[in-house]
Amino acid sequence: MRLVLAADHAAVREKAVLIDELRTAGHEVEDLGTNGDESVDYPDFAAPAARAAASGEADRAILLCGTGIGQCMSANKIPGARAAVLWNDLSAEMSRRHNDANVACFGVRTQELDEIRRLVGLWLETPFDGGRHARRVGKIDALDAIDA
Ligand code: RB5
Repeated sequence: MRLVLAADHAAVREKAVLIDELRTAGHEVEDLGTNGDESVDYPDFAAPAARAAASGEADRAILLCGTGIGQCMSANKIPGARAAVLWNDLSAEMSRRHNDANVACFGVRTQELDEIRRLVGLWLETPFDGGRHARRVGKIDALDAIDA
């Protein structure tokens, strides 16, 4: 899969681990930063990653910050992005099967790295169920136009 990953300063180390692992697994991964210790603002990293996933330039985006919340809020401002904070197996699976999430967000201050690694794998391999869920996801996407 073509993936983009981005993090704020809270999650630089965890992003690097995930990128290594995903590349080893055969994914094409673009690192959208940040890559230093300097304090940065998560919306600046969420937006380009979410745009890549929303436009189809990437298949999916993975975002990391302290809690995953700021990245998720920011990503969902981008039309066509469907971002979810994933905190356990069910949220990872259902965000794909029912919501067709194209952006996954994690918090490195709220989750262990091993758990994040496991949830990333589950999220990437879970397909969208389609059917009645496609109608609902279509209504999510229509809100971009209605509320613009
Ligand atoms: C940065 O200190 C922190 O606010 C950020 O990583 C994230 O948790 C925001 O949602």
